[in-house]
Amino acid sequence: MLPIRRDIRFDLPADRIKDWHEQGPQVTHFFNALSLLFPSGERFFMDSVRHYRKRITDPQLTAEVQGFIGQEAMHSREHVQYNELMEAAGLPARTLDRRLAWFLDLLKKWLPASFNLSVTLALEHYTAILADLLLRDPSRLGDSLPGYTHVWTWHALEETEHKAVSFDVWNQVVEPGLGRYLLRCGSMLVTTVVFWLVVFDFHVRLLIADRHAPHFLRGFWRVIVFLYGPRGVFPSIARQWLDYFRPGFHPWQHDNRTHLERIDGLVAAIEAGTSR
Ligand SMILES: [Fe+2]
Ligand SMILES: [Fe+2]
Repeated sequence: MLPIRRDIRFDLPADRIKDWHEQGPQVTHFFNALSLLFPSGERFFMDSVRHYRKRITDPQLTAEVQGFIGQEAMHSREHVQYNELMEAAGLPARTLDRRLAWFLDLLKKWLPASFNLSVTLALEHYTAILADLLLRDPSRLGDSLPGYTHVWTWHALEETEHKAVSFDVWNQVVEPGLGRYLLRCGSMLVTTVVFWLVVFDFHVRLLIADRHAPHFLRGFWRVIVFLYGPRGVFPSIARQWLDYFRPGFHPWQHDNRTHLERIDGLVAAIEAGTSR
């Protein structure tokens, strides 16, 4: 699977940044909180993989790494634009991004490159299983505003396309054995706690900043069902999350490449509809 860098621009109506999701502002802000993680998070992924670039001997994997970095760079660029709409609408986007960047820079400075790569692997697994959920269940985005639906679907498809690249780099550059397995799984446990704490914190801060929105309290039930209900985000990804702890796990054991058949149609729709 060779990831392809697609240089695409999106038409995101600025006046709907706080309420673009079909299910209202609370669910919108869950997605917006995730969007705030991408610019700094994806820079961290690219740096973690880049650190090992020279040690990759397989030309196919070298090409995949190039595609991975190209895709993440495009995601970062588009989510910076997206997040600036939040800032312009009075939400604390830049402050939250700066905090995350500070935290990730500490990791880069003080922790071993192998640990940072294992965190990248864990977060790439998260993006892959969340992307799979978004792509296999159309009700996740439902009838939300097209520009925003496009950017999330594009990102989910490309995360699927490159989901195994950092994992394959890991397998090639880190010595196999029990130590590698324990580092990979231990990092997943630590990353899980930190990742969801940060998402929760960002989500709550966006909600507080937008507390004067109409029907603000009524919408809370929807976001609770969306995240924690029987068909919610957390129950829906639990099994795929657990699979990561199998000793012989590889991301393509979840073979969901059929989603990728949608890419060309999506790109055509975006290019036909976008005004930029
Ligand atoms: Fe990405
Ligand atoms: Fe990614």
